[in-house]
Amino acid sequence: MNVRPPLDGNLSIFGAQWGDEGKGKVVDFFCENVDIVVRFAGGNNAGHTLVVGGLEVAVHLLPSGAVRPSAICVLGAGMVIDPSALLEEMQMLADVGCSLDAKRLKLSSRAQLVLPYHRQIDALREGGPNAIGTTKRGIGPAYEDKAARRGLRAGDLRDGASLRAKLERAIADVTPQIVAAGGQPPELVPLFDALAAQAETLRPHITETEPLLARWMRGGKRVLFEGAQGAMLDIDHGTYPFVTSSTTLPAGACAGAGVAPRALGAIVGVSKAYVTRVGAGPMPSELDEAESERLRSHGGEFGATTGRARRCGWLDLPALRHALTVSGADYLALTKLDVLAAFERIKVCEAYMLDGERLAIDAFPASADELARATPVYREMAGFAGISGDERSFEALPQTARDFIAYVEQALELPVCLVSIGPQRDATIVRS
Ligand code: GDP
Ligand code: IMO
Ligand code: MG
Repeated sequence: MNVRPPLDGNLSIFGAQWGDEGKGKVVDFFCENVDIVVRFAGGNNAGHTLVVGGLEVAVHLLPSGAVRPSAICVLGAGMVIDPSALLEEMQMLADVGCSLDAKRLKLSSRAQLVLPYHRQIDALREGGPNAIGTTKRGIGPAYEDKAARRGLRAGDLRDGASLRAKLERAIADVTPQIVAAGGQPPELVPLFDALAAQAETLRPHITETEPLLARWMRGGKRVLFEGAQGAMLDIDHGTYPFVTSSTTLPAGACAGAGVAPRALGAIVGVSKAYVTRVGAGPMPSELDEAESERLRSHGGEFGATTGRARRCGWLDLPALRHALTVSGADYLALTKLDVLAAFERIKVCEAYMLDGERLAIDAFPASADELARATPVYREMAGFAGISGDERSFEALPQTARDFIAYVEQALELPVCLVSIGPQRDATIVRS
C-alpha cells in the first residue's frame, strides 16, 4: 500500500465531510510543487483559510494556490462567480502582496455569474420555513438559472451590448418569484452599470481555460484540482436536501474544469479528526450544546465565510466511508489532531443503529429522514494529550494519536497520507 501521493503527476484534493475540513491548508501545503491550481465548482460559499508566515488569509472564490506567487490560478466552467466578490478578493490578496495579473488568474468564459438578484432570492428563501442554512451567497439560485438555461456566463461580460439584452431577459424571468416572495424587483439600469464596470477589470482574465489546461498538461505541467465544500454537501451523494447545489466530488472536476477523468491524478480526501457542520441537516454524531461548545472553542470552529458557530461532533466513520467511496479517494488527509489534545477521552462513531438494527459501516442511509433517526455506536479512546504542534514525523506523535490513525485506516481501508497538527503551513506531517 502506497502511503503518500506521488510527487509528480496531478493531484485532486477535496472535502470528505460537510465542508471546512481544512482543505485550504492541505492544498496550500501541496501547492509547493504545483504549477496550476484549479477550482471547478461552487462559488464564494467556500471559505478556505491559510496561515502563511503568521498571516491568516481566507479565500472564497480564488484557489488556495493564490498565495503561492508562482502558481497559475484557474476558475473553471463549473463554478458560479459573483463578479463583485471576485474583485474584492483580488484586491484583498493584492493588499497582502499576492497580486493576480491576467497571466496568473484565468477565469473560464463558461463559468456562470452570480448576480445580486441570486443573493436576494437566496436570502428571501432562507427567511422562510424551509431554510437549509445556506451561506446566502446566491449559489442555489445561480445553479438553478444555469440548469434552466437562462444564466449569464463570464464570457457574456466581454460584449456590453448583448450583456444588457441578456440581463434584461434574465431579470424578466426572475422578477415574478422575487415579487411573490415579497422582495423588491431588480432594476436593470443600476445592475447593468455596475456589471459593465466590473467587466472592465475582469475582461483580461476571462478566457477559454479548457484548451489552456489541456496544453499545459500536455507540456508536463502539474495541476492540482481544489475541491470546495465537502462530499456530504454534494448535490447527489450528500445529505440531500441539506446540501449545496453543485457536484463537490473529484468527479465534478472533470466536467467543471473540462478535463479527462484520468487528469485528476491521485485523489486525496480531507477530514478533520472530528466533524463539524454549518447549516441545517442531520449529523448523527453531533454533541450536545455544552460538549459541542468545548470542541468549538478548542478548534476555533466558526465559519470562514459567514462567521456562524459550527455544529461539532465526534468523527463519523460511516459518513466518512461513504464520502470516500463516492469520491474514489486514494488517500486520506487528517486535520486538526491537535484540537483533540485537550480531551482526556474522545469518541469515534464506528457504526449507526437505525430502528433497532446495527448498520454495516458501508450502509450509509440515503434518506435524510433515516439519517436523522440513526444513532451512533461509539468507540472510546484516549485523547491526544502531548501533541504540541511541533512534531514533524509520525513517530514523534503520541502513541494515542498513532493508534487513532491506525484504527481509522483500518476501518476505512485507506492510507492516511498527511496529518495536520496546527493551522500553519509547516504544522504538517507527510507520510514518508
Ligand atoms: P476549508 O474550507 O476546508 O479550507 O476549511 P476552513 O478554512 O473553512 O476551516 C478550517 C479551519 O481550521 C481554518 O481556520 C484553518 O486555519 C484551521 N486548521 C486547518 N488545519 C488545522 C489543524 O491541523 N489544526 C488546527 N488547530 N487548525 C487547523
Ligand atoms: P468550504 O469550501 C461548509 C453549506 C451551507 C449550507 C449548505 C448550502 O469552506 O468547505 P449554499 O450557500 O452552498 O447554498 O449552502 O452548504 N456550505 C458549506 N459549509 N463549508 C463550505 O465551504 C460550505 N459551502 C456551503 O452552510 O448548509
Ligand atoms: Mg471553509
